[in-house]
Amino acid sequence: MSSKYNNQISISKADNSKIGTVDFENLAFGNTFTDHMLVCDFRNGQWEPAVIKPYEPFLIDPSAKVFHYGQAIFEGMKSYKDESDDVWLFRPEENYDRFNKSAVRLAMPEVPEDVFLGGLHQLLEVERDWVKKGKGNSLYIRPFMIAIGSGVIAAPSTQYRFMIILSPARSYYSGEVKVIIAEHYSRAANGGIGAAKAAGNYSAQFYPTKLANEQGFQQIIWTDDATHTKLEEAGTMNVFFKINDTLFTAPTSERILDGVTRKSIIELAARENIKVEERSVLVSELVEAAENGTLKEIFGAGTAAVINPIVGFSYKDKYYELPKLENSTALELKEKLTNIQHKLAEDTFGWTVKV
Ligand SMILES: Cc1ncc(COP(=O)(O)O)c(C=O)c1O
Repeated sequence: MSSKYNNQISISKADNSKIGTVDFENLAFGNTFTDHMLVCDFRNGQWEPAVIKPYEPFLIDPSAKVFHYGQAIFEGMKSYKDESDDVWLFRPEENYDRFNKSAVRLAMPEVPEDVFLGGLHQLLEVERDWVKKGKGNSLYIRPFMIAIGSGVIAAPSTQYRFMIILSPARSYYSGEVKVIIAEHYSRAANGGIGAAKAAGNYSAQFYPTKLANEQGFQQIIWTDDATHTKLEEAGTMNVFFKINDTLFTAPTSERILDGVTRKSIIELAARENIKVEERSVLVSELVEAAENGTLKEIFGAGTAAVINPIVGFSYKDKYYELPKLENSTALELKEKLTNIQHKLAEDTFGWTVKV
Protein backbone atom coordinates (compact mmCIF):
# COMPACT_ATOMS: atom_id res chain seq x y z
CA MET A 1 0.00 0.00 0.00
CA SER A 2 1.12 3.53 -0.71
CA SER A 3 2.90 4.82 2.41
CA LYS A 4 1.20 8.20 1.89
CA TYR A 5 -1.85 6.90 3.75
CA ASN A 6 -1.43 6.03 7.39
CA ASN A 7 -4.36 3.74 8.03
CA GLN A 8 -4.40 0.01 7.57
CA ILE A 9 -7.93 -1.03 6.83
CA SER A 10 -9.08 -4.41 8.11
CA ILE A 11 -9.75 -6.87 5.33
CA SER A 12 -12.03 -9.89 5.47
CA LYS A 13 -11.57 -11.96 2.36
CA ALA A 14 -14.30 -13.66 0.34
CA ASP A 15 -14.19 -17.48 0.61
CA ASN A 16 -14.32 -17.90 -3.14
CA SER A 17 -13.57 -15.55 -6.00
CA LYS A 18 -16.14 -15.05 -8.79
CA ILE A 19 -13.43 -14.05 -11.23
CA GLY A 20 -13.37 -17.43 -12.98
CA THR A 21 -17.03 -17.03 -13.96
CA VAL A 22 -16.61 -13.64 -15.63
CA ASP A 23 -16.36 -13.32 -19.42
CA PHE A 24 -13.97 -10.35 -19.62
CA GLU A 25 -14.35 -10.17 -23.42
CA ASN A 26 -18.09 -9.51 -23.21
CA LEU A 27 -18.73 -7.20 -20.32
CA ALA A 28 -21.78 -4.98 -20.27
CA PHE A 29 -20.74 -1.71 -18.61
CA GLY A 30 -21.40 -1.54 -14.87
CA ASN A 31 -23.05 -4.93 -14.39
CA THR A 32 -20.28 -7.09 -12.97
CA PHE A 33 -18.68 -6.40 -9.61
CA THR A 34 -15.49 -7.67 -8.01
CA ASP A 35 -15.27 -9.87 -4.91
CA HIS A 36 -14.80 -7.11 -2.32
CA MET A 37 -16.02 -3.66 -1.39
CA LEU A 38 -14.99 -0.95 1.04
CA VAL A 39 -17.47 0.22 3.67
CA CYS A 40 -17.10 3.07 6.13
CA ASP A 41 -19.93 4.44 8.29
CA PHE A 42 -20.33 7.88 9.82
CA ARG A 43 -22.07 7.88 13.21
CA ASN A 44 -22.13 10.11 16.29
CA GLY A 45 -20.36 12.86 14.41
CA GLN A 46 -17.39 10.80 13.26
CA TRP A 47 -16.16 8.25 10.78
CA GLU A 48 -15.86 4.71 12.12
CA PRO A 49 -12.99 2.46 10.95
CA ALA A 50 -13.34 1.45 7.29
CA VAL A 51 -13.47 -2.24 6.37
CA ILE A 52 -12.86 -4.17 3.17
CA LYS A 53 -15.23 -7.14 3.02
CA PRO A 54 -16.89 -9.48 0.54
CA TYR A 55 -19.24 -7.77 -1.95
CA GLU A 56 -22.75 -8.43 -0.71
CA PRO A 57 -26.16 -6.75 -0.26
CA PHE A 58 -26.85 -4.98 3.01
CA LEU A 59 -29.88 -3.93 5.03
CA ILE A 60 -30.97 -0.38 5.67
CA ASP A 61 -34.09 0.88 7.38
CA PRO A 62 -36.98 1.63 4.97
CA SER A 63 -37.14 5.14 6.44
CA ALA A 64 -33.47 5.85 5.63
CA LYS A 65 -33.16 9.36 4.25
CA VAL A 66 -31.51 8.25 1.04
CA PHE A 67 -34.82 6.68 -0.04
CA HIS A 68 -36.95 9.72 0.71
CA TYR A 69 -34.78 12.80 0.28
CA GLY A 70 -32.15 11.60 -2.16
CA GLN A 71 -29.12 12.38 -0.04
CA ALA A 72 -26.71 10.43 -2.23
CA ILE A 73 -23.53 11.30 -4.11
CA PHE A 74 -21.03 9.31 -6.13
CA GLU A 75 -17.86 9.40 -8.19
CA GLY A 76 -16.65 7.58 -11.28
CA MET A 77 -13.01 6.82 -11.95
CA LYS A 78 -10.90 4.04 -13.47
CA SER A 79 -7.76 2.01 -12.85
CA TYR A 80 -5.58 0.43 -15.52
CA LYS A 81 -2.90 -2.25 -15.66
CA ASP A 82 0.28 -1.67 -17.66
CA GLU A 83 2.39 -4.25 -19.49
CA SER A 84 4.51 -4.82 -16.34
CA ASP A 85 1.41 -5.68 -14.28
CA ASP A 86 1.48 -2.44 -12.33
CA VAL A 87 -1.92 -0.93 -11.54
CA TRP A 88 -2.50 2.81 -12.06
CA LEU A 89 -5.07 5.44 -11.21
CA PHE A 90 -5.72 8.55 -13.29
CA ARG A 91 -5.83 11.87 -11.37
CA PRO A 92 -7.51 10.30 -8.31
CA GLU A 93 -7.13 13.44 -6.19
CA GLU A 94 -9.43 15.23 -8.63
CA ASN A 95 -12.20 12.74 -7.92
CA TYR A 96 -11.53 12.89 -4.21
CA ASP A 97 -11.79 16.68 -4.17
CA ARG A 98 -14.92 16.66 -6.31
CA PHE A 99 -16.52 14.03 -4.07
CA ASN A 100 -16.07 16.19 -1.00
CA LYS A 101 -17.40 19.24 -2.85
CA SER A 102 -20.50 17.18 -3.67
CA ALA A 103 -20.69 16.12 0.00
CA VAL A 104 -20.66 19.72 1.21
CA ARG A 105 -23.39 20.70 -1.29
CA LEU A 106 -25.63 17.85 -0.12
CA ALA A 107 -24.99 18.66 3.59
CA MET A 108 -23.10 15.37 4.05
CA PRO A 109 -19.83 14.88 5.96
CA GLU A 110 -16.58 15.06 3.99
CA VAL A 111 -14.76 11.74 3.68
CA PRO A 112 -11.16 11.65 4.99
CA GLU A 113 -8.39 11.13 2.44
CA ASP A 114 -7.16 8.02 4.27
CA VAL A 115 -10.57 6.42 3.77
CA PHE A 116 -11.25 7.51 0.18
CA LEU A 117 -7.78 7.38 -1.39
CA GLY A 118 -5.97 5.17 1.15
CA GLY A 119 -8.94 2.78 1.17
CA LEU A 120 -9.08 2.73 -2.62
CA HIS A 121 -5.39 1.84 -2.86
CA GLN A 122 -5.90 -1.03 -0.43
CA LEU A 123 -9.04 -2.26 -2.17
CA LEU A 124 -7.25 -2.23 -5.53
CA GLU A 125 -4.37 -4.22 -4.03
CA VAL A 126 -6.89 -6.87 -3.00
CA GLU A 127 -8.57 -6.84 -6.44
CA ARG A 128 -5.45 -6.55 -8.66
CA ASP A 129 -6.43 -9.61 -10.71
CA TRP A 130 -9.63 -7.86 -11.78
CA VAL A 131 -7.68 -5.13 -13.56
CA LYS A 132 -6.96 -6.51 -17.01
CA LYS A 133 -4.15 -5.41 -19.27
CA GLY A 134 -4.69 -4.00 -22.72
CA LYS A 135 -6.11 -0.88 -24.33
CA GLY A 136 -9.81 -0.48 -23.60
CA ASN A 137 -9.69 -2.63 -20.46
CA SER A 138 -10.11 -0.94 -17.11
CA LEU A 139 -11.57 -1.42 -13.68
CA TYR A 140 -14.30 1.16 -13.15
CA ILE A 141 -14.37 2.54 -9.61
CA ARG A 142 -17.58 3.71 -8.03
CA PRO A 143 -17.16 5.48 -4.67
CA PHE A 144 -20.49 6.64 -3.25
CA MET A 145 -22.13 7.88 -0.08
CA ILE A 146 -25.72 7.51 1.08
CA ALA A 147 -27.71 8.81 4.04
CA ILE A 148 -28.57 5.75 6.15
CA GLY A 149 -30.08 7.56 9.13
CA SER A 150 -33.75 6.71 9.62
CA GLY A 151 -36.78 8.97 9.87
CA VAL A 152 -39.18 10.44 7.35
CA ILE A 153 -38.48 14.00 8.27
CA ALA A 154 -36.96 16.24 5.64
CA ALA A 155 -33.66 17.08 7.29
CA PRO A 156 -30.09 15.90 6.72
CA SER A 157 -29.25 12.49 8.13
CA THR A 158 -26.89 12.06 11.05
CA GLN A 159 -25.66 8.69 9.73
CA TYR A 160 -23.99 7.97 6.41
CA ARG A 161 -22.38 5.06 4.60
CA PHE A 162 -19.41 5.58 2.29
CA MET A 163 -18.60 2.67 0.00
CA ILE A 164 -16.38 1.79 -2.93
CA ILE A 165 -17.38 -0.90 -5.40
CA LEU A 166 -15.44 -1.95 -8.50
CA SER A 167 -16.62 -3.11 -11.90
CA PRO A 168 -14.44 -4.46 -14.72
CA ALA A 169 -15.11 -2.55 -17.93
CA ARG A 170 -14.42 -2.43 -21.60
CA SER A 171 -15.45 0.60 -23.65
CA TYR A 172 -18.69 2.27 -22.61
CA TYR A 173 -20.54 3.50 -25.67
CA SER A 174 -20.65 1.79 -28.98
CA GLY A 175 -22.32 2.65 -32.23
CA GLU A 176 -23.20 6.07 -33.53
CA VAL A 177 -24.32 8.71 -31.06
CA LYS A 178 -26.89 11.23 -32.22
CA VAL A 179 -27.97 13.93 -29.81
CA ILE A 180 -30.92 16.21 -29.40
CA ILE A 181 -30.49 19.73 -28.05
CA ALA A 182 -32.67 20.46 -25.01
CA GLU A 183 -35.36 23.04 -25.68
CA HIS A 184 -37.59 22.48 -22.65
CA TYR A 185 -36.15 20.19 -19.96
CA SER A 186 -33.11 21.05 -17.83
CA ARG A 187 -30.72 18.91 -15.81
CA ALA A 188 -29.48 21.76 -13.65
CA ALA A 189 -30.29 25.32 -12.67
CA ASN A 190 -28.40 28.25 -11.19
CA GLY A 191 -28.09 27.77 -7.46
CA GLY A 192 -28.95 24.08 -7.82
CA ILE A 193 -26.84 20.90 -7.56
CA GLY A 194 -25.71 20.55 -11.20
CA ALA A 195 -22.02 20.85 -10.31
CA ALA A 196 -22.32 18.09 -7.69
CA LYS A 197 -22.25 14.42 -8.61
CA ALA A 198 -25.56 13.95 -6.85
CA ALA A 199 -27.81 10.99 -7.63
CA GLY A 200 -30.81 13.26 -8.26
CA ASN A 201 -29.07 14.94 -11.20
CA TYR A 202 -29.16 11.63 -13.03
CA SER A 203 -32.70 10.54 -12.25
CA ALA A 204 -33.82 14.00 -13.42
CA GLN A 205 -32.40 13.18 -16.84
CA PHE A 206 -34.03 9.78 -17.26
CA TYR A 207 -37.46 10.91 -18.47
CA PRO A 208 -36.29 13.50 -21.05
CA THR A 209 -33.62 11.04 -22.21
CA LYS A 210 -36.29 8.34 -22.61
CA LEU A 211 -38.27 10.73 -24.83
CA ALA A 212 -35.08 11.44 -26.84
CA ASN A 213 -34.43 7.69 -27.19
CA GLU A 214 -37.94 7.19 -28.55
CA GLN A 215 -37.10 9.74 -31.26
CA GLY A 216 -33.89 7.87 -32.16
CA PHE A 217 -31.37 9.96 -30.18
CA GLN A 218 -29.02 8.43 -27.62
CA GLN A 219 -28.27 11.54 -25.60
CA ILE A 220 -29.42 15.07 -24.88
CA ILE A 221 -27.14 18.09 -24.98
CA TRP A 222 -28.39 20.19 -22.10
CA THR A 223 -28.73 23.93 -22.46
CA ASP A 224 -28.86 26.60 -19.75
CA ASP A 225 -32.15 26.42 -17.88
CA ALA A 226 -32.91 30.14 -18.06
CA THR A 227 -32.75 30.69 -21.83
CA HIS A 228 -32.00 27.30 -23.47
CA THR A 229 -29.59 29.13 -25.76
CA LYS A 230 -26.20 28.01 -24.38
CA LEU A 231 -24.83 24.50 -24.89
CA GLU A 232 -23.73 22.91 -21.62
CA GLU A 233 -23.14 19.15 -21.26
CA ALA A 234 -24.55 15.75 -22.17
CA GLY A 235 -25.77 12.79 -20.02
CA THR A 236 -22.56 11.88 -18.21
CA MET A 237 -20.16 13.84 -20.38
CA ASN A 238 -18.88 17.34 -20.94
CA VAL A 239 -19.14 18.40 -24.58
CA PHE A 240 -16.65 19.84 -27.07
CA PHE A 241 -17.44 21.48 -30.41
CA LYS A 242 -14.85 21.92 -33.15
CA ILE A 243 -15.66 24.92 -35.30
CA ASN A 244 -13.06 25.65 -37.97
CA ASP A 245 -9.81 24.74 -36.17
CA THR A 246 -10.84 25.59 -32.62
CA LEU A 247 -12.27 23.38 -29.90
CA PHE A 248 -14.90 25.05 -27.76
CA THR A 249 -16.29 23.82 -24.46
CA ALA A 250 -18.55 25.54 -21.96
CA PRO A 251 -16.83 26.99 -18.89
CA THR A 252 -17.63 25.08 -15.72
CA SER A 253 -20.32 26.68 -13.61
CA GLU A 254 -22.74 25.73 -10.87
CA ARG A 255 -24.78 23.96 -13.58
CA ILE A 256 -21.95 21.89 -15.06
CA LEU A 257 -19.84 19.08 -13.64
CA ASP A 258 -16.14 19.94 -13.55
CA GLY A 259 -15.07 16.87 -15.53
CA VAL A 260 -11.63 15.32 -15.08
CA THR A 261 -11.61 14.19 -18.72
CA ARG A 262 -12.64 17.68 -19.82
CA LYS A 263 -9.81 19.39 -17.98
CA SER A 264 -7.32 16.74 -19.19
CA ILE A 265 -8.39 17.28 -22.80
CA ILE A 266 -7.98 21.04 -22.45
CA GLU A 267 -4.41 20.56 -21.18
CA LEU A 268 -3.60 17.88 -23.72
CA ALA A 269 -4.96 19.93 -26.62
CA ALA A 270 -2.87 22.92 -25.53
CA ARG A 271 0.23 20.72 -25.55
CA GLU A 272 -0.65 19.49 -29.03
CA ASN A 273 -1.11 23.09 -30.26
CA ILE A 274 -4.81 22.53 -30.81
CA LYS A 275 -6.68 25.76 -30.11
CA VAL A 276 -9.16 25.45 -27.23
CA GLU A 277 -11.53 28.07 -25.94
CA GLU A 278 -13.53 27.72 -22.74
CA ARG A 279 -16.58 29.79 -23.50
CA SER A 280 -20.29 29.32 -23.90
CA VAL A 281 -21.30 28.20 -27.37
CA LEU A 282 -24.73 29.34 -28.42
CA VAL A 283 -27.15 26.93 -30.06
CA SER A 284 -27.54 29.50 -32.84
CA GLU A 285 -23.76 29.45 -33.44
CA LEU A 286 -23.79 25.68 -33.67
CA VAL A 287 -26.66 25.67 -36.16
CA GLU A 288 -24.98 28.38 -38.24
CA ALA A 289 -21.65 26.49 -38.20
CA ALA A 290 -23.44 23.29 -39.23
CA GLU A 291 -25.15 25.13 -42.07
CA ASN A 292 -22.07 26.91 -43.40
CA GLY A 293 -19.82 23.86 -43.06
CA THR A 294 -17.49 25.21 -40.37
CA LEU A 295 -18.76 22.75 -37.73
CA LYS A 296 -16.26 19.89 -37.93
CA GLU A 297 -16.87 17.79 -34.82
CA ILE A 298 -18.85 17.37 -31.64
CA PHE A 299 -17.70 14.97 -28.97
CA GLY A 300 -18.49 14.09 -25.39
CA ALA A 301 -15.78 13.60 -22.75
CA GLY A 302 -16.11 11.62 -19.55
CA THR A 303 -14.47 8.83 -17.58
CA ALA A 304 -16.73 6.04 -18.78
CA ALA A 305 -16.54 6.71 -22.52
CA VAL A 306 -13.29 8.76 -22.46
CA ILE A 307 -14.19 10.54 -25.73
CA ASN A 308 -17.33 9.79 -27.64
CA PRO A 309 -17.75 11.28 -31.12
CA ILE A 310 -21.23 12.55 -31.94
CA VAL A 311 -22.41 12.06 -35.53
CA GLY A 312 -25.23 14.59 -35.64
CA PHE A 313 -27.64 16.70 -33.66
CA SER A 314 -31.26 17.67 -33.79
CA TYR A 315 -32.62 21.09 -32.97
CA LYS A 316 -36.19 22.30 -33.46
CA ASP A 317 -37.01 19.07 -35.30
CA LYS A 318 -34.23 19.54 -37.86
CA TYR A 319 -31.37 17.05 -37.99
CA TYR A 320 -27.85 18.24 -38.75
CA GLU A 321 -25.38 15.57 -39.82
CA LEU A 322 -21.69 16.11 -39.13
CA PRO A 323 -19.01 15.45 -41.75
CA LYS A 324 -17.45 11.97 -41.63
CA LEU A 325 -13.75 12.47 -40.91
CA GLU A 326 -10.85 10.10 -41.42
CA ASN A 327 -8.65 11.81 -38.82
CA SER A 328 -10.80 13.48 -36.24
CA THR A 329 -9.45 15.57 -33.39
CA ALA A 330 -11.72 13.54 -31.09
CA LEU A 331 -10.02 10.27 -31.95
CA GLU A 332 -6.56 11.81 -31.98
CA LEU A 333 -7.07 13.15 -28.44
CA LYS A 334 -8.68 9.90 -27.29
CA GLU A 335 -5.64 7.95 -28.49
CA LYS A 336 -3.23 10.30 -26.73
CA LEU A 337 -5.22 10.34 -23.48
CA THR A 338 -5.79 6.59 -23.32
CA ASN A 339 -2.09 6.01 -24.08
CA ILE A 340 -1.22 8.08 -21.01
CA GLN A 341 -3.84 6.26 -18.90
CA HIS A 342 -2.57 2.85 -20.00
CA LYS A 343 1.09 3.88 -19.56
CA LEU A 344 1.77 3.43 -23.27
CA ALA A 345 2.98 7.03 -23.59
CA GLU A 346 5.04 9.19 -21.28
CA ASP A 347 2.91 10.99 -18.72
CA THR A 348 4.49 14.44 -18.90
CA PHE A 349 1.63 15.88 -16.83
CA GLY A 350 2.12 13.65 -13.77
CA TRP A 351 -1.51 12.49 -13.96
CA THR A 352 -1.01 8.78 -13.32
CA VAL A 353 -0.63 7.40 -9.80
CA LYS A 354 0.71 3.92 -9.08
CA VAL A 355 -1.26 1.69 -6.73
C1 LIG B 1 -22.95 15.21 -15.66
C2 LIG B 1 -21.56 14.81 -15.99
N1 LIG B 1 -20.80 15.64 -16.73
C3 LIG B 1 -19.53 15.33 -17.05
C4 LIG B 1 -18.95 14.14 -16.65
C5 LIG B 1 -17.54 13.83 -16.99
O1 LIG B 1 -16.71 13.92 -15.85
P1 LIG B 1 -15.39 13.03 -15.73
O2 LIG B 1 -14.56 13.36 -16.92
O3 LIG B 1 -14.77 13.49 -14.46
O4 LIG B 1 -15.81 11.63 -15.71
C6 LIG B 1 -19.72 13.23 -15.92
C7 LIG B 1 -19.16 11.93 -15.52
O5 LIG B 1 -18.67 11.74 -14.48
C8 LIG B 1 -21.05 13.59 -15.56
O6 LIG B 1 -21.79 12.76 -14.83
